[in-house]
Amino acid sequence: MTNQIHRTERDAGPRHWLALEGKVCVVSGAAGGIGSAIAQVLGEAGARLALLDRDEDKCRALARKLNTSGIEALALACDIGDIDSVRGAVQGVESAYGAADVLVNNAGLLRPGGIEEIGLDAWNAMLRVNLTGYMLCSQQFGHGMLKRGTGALVHVASVAAHHPQTYSGAYSPGKAGVAMLSKQLAAEWGPRGIRSNTVCPGMIRTPLSAAFYEHGDIERRRSAMTASRRIGEPNDIADVVAFLASARAAYVNGAEIVVDGGLESMLMDLVPRPGFEATQAAQTTPVTR
Ligand SMILES: NC(=O)c1ccc[n+]([C@@H]2O[C@H](COP(=O)([O-])OP(=O)(O)OC[C@H]3O[C@@H](n4cnc5c(N)ncnc54)[C@H](O)[C@@H]3O)[C@@H](O)[C@H]2O)c1
Repeated sequence: MTNQIHRTERDAGPRHWLALEGKVCVVSGAAGGIGSAIAQVLGEAGARLALLDRDEDKCRALARKLNTSGIEALALACDIGDIDSVRGAVQGVESAYGAADVLVNNAGLLRPGGIEEIGLDAWNAMLRVNLTGYMLCSQQFGHGMLKRGTGALVHVASVAAHHPQTYSGAYSPGKAGVAMLSKQLAAEWGPRGIRSNTVCPGMIRTPLSAAFYEHGDIERRRSAMTASRRIGEPNDIADVVAFLASARAAYVNGAEIVVDGGLESMLMDLVPRPGFEATQAAQTTPVTR
């Protein structure tokens, strides 16, 4: 009975099941592969978008494209590692729309570099964007959310938060930091009406990773390492981000969702185990341990 009432209320409510119509959603790194998919999915659900990126031209082009399809979107040049730039973006959003309802921290960079030889500048440059930038945007957009006692933060980390991604400078330490930052924000701000959650993508085809797929049969070998046997697309991440941003995830706080086609579940599959190969599945003899 309770369930029935709940369904009826929901059906009579917003047009889109995510109930994001009119919500002010800020997306950092919006001009990139995953960021633009997130913007598109949130926009299609009726959100009013603020697109932040340090690549102003690409950001404006995306806003124009979204506007053409009837989505309200504002492009703002912003370097998320610079507090004045982030404050400027907050002002831009608030004067156009009012305080943000949702912040998606997504901007990021990846550069090669082993620990043995990495310079302090290169180390700091990555952390400045991939970790400090996430804190600065959370803090500065969070002020308005805290004042109103409502808001959702979604942080795009990586499976590299759980597994060392070698020879990639501060990438893994930074992503692990994001996962913990998110939990800290949930614990500090949860009692004040703010949710903070993390999405950990696996291998997704975007400009950030495009160079990998130019090499030989990398795509086939990478796909074989996932349970779903494919490389992820930006929309695979965008749909999960939109769910976490929405009221449908109202009781999800301090959580991490891994979106990797089962990559993280494949470790034991990499271990040679004679007699336990895939062909065993076709055999009828029961396996006893
Ligand atoms: N592509 C993957 O396989 C993958 C896997 C795991 C996690 N991720 C994460 O997903 C997020 C998006 O990655 P992507 O693959 O779409 O990359 P991308 O390179 O396509 O997009 C990243 C965007 O961030 C912007 N950006 C970089 N530094 C910035 C700064 N200081 N201020 C503002 N904007 C800045 C770039 O201009 C770019 O538009 C990143 O955090 C990345 O670490 C990606």
